[in-house]
Amino acid sequence: MKMILLGPPGAGKGTQAKLISERYSIPHISTGDIFRKNISQKTSLGIKAKEYIDKGQLVPDELTIDIVNDRLAEQDCKNGFLLDGFPRTVKQAEALEDFLRKNNQKIDTALLINVPSEFILERMTGRRVCPSCGASYHIKFNPPKSEEKCDACGSDIVQRKDDTEETVKDRIDVYEKQTQPLADYYKSKDQLFVVDGTQSIDEVFETICRHMESEK
Ligand code: AP5
Ligand code: MG
Ligand code: ZN
Repeated sequence: MKMILLGPPGAGKGTQAKLISERYSIPHISTGDIFRKNISQKTSLGIKAKEYIDKGQLVPDELTIDIVNDRLAEQDCKNGFLLDGFPRTVKQAEALEDFLRKNNQKIDTALLINVPSEFILERMTGRRVCPSCGASYHIKFNPPKSEEKCDACGSDIVQRKDDTEETVKDRIDVYEKQTQPLADYYKSKDQLFVVDGTQSIDEVFETICRHMESEK
């Protein structure tokens, strides 16, 4: 199963990706997580990416495409993968298609988690993440069992630096201008499936699974 997850900031891509990757045993590849890991390790990629991410801008395609191609060439992606947050521009989508074509592969489903912008701010500002294992929580919609601690590993959970109100507004803007056109791109290839992301986390997951089972 080769899937990509599309959707605005806070749509629940990371939340659903974790569930999907466990259910179908495919690696979850998040470009946002890769960049954040590089930022915390202060690699040269991390230093370059931080400039853009902190402002809510996209990291340039030249930096992003190669990272994904390298990751997809790894052995664990042979039988499928789930891309979360990539592609985000038409150029990235074309690069992905080229890469897969060279390996006689193609995307099965581009899953768009649709959430109107009025829901996004509350989701973003209430999000907390675990810096150690990457788990994601929400203080109201998906709180950890023990306040301020990660259920999975016990680390202190924190707020992402780009989850401030001002940066979130910029991220929504960037999404609408640069990423939203991908819905039409995948629709024209008959690969798009849209799920209503305003449902509960469990309901969104069930809808996705029903669709994936029907595609088999
Ligand atoms: P990235 O990390 O991908 O951020 P994003 O796309 O803005 O999406 P988020 O991670 O913020 O949201 P999500 O959809 O994963 O939602 P989540 O599941 O956490 O990218 C960050 C930055 O990196 C970008 O701005 C860019 O600079 C750079 N970047 C990354 N990829 C790039 C690329 N390909 N090209 C260029 N630059 C790139 O959920 C959000 C919150 O809501 C959580 O608290 C969760 O618990 C809660 N929640 C989830 N689902 C529900 C629900 N159904 N009901 C209620 N609450 C819910
Ligand atoms: Mg995410
Ligand atoms: Zn953790």
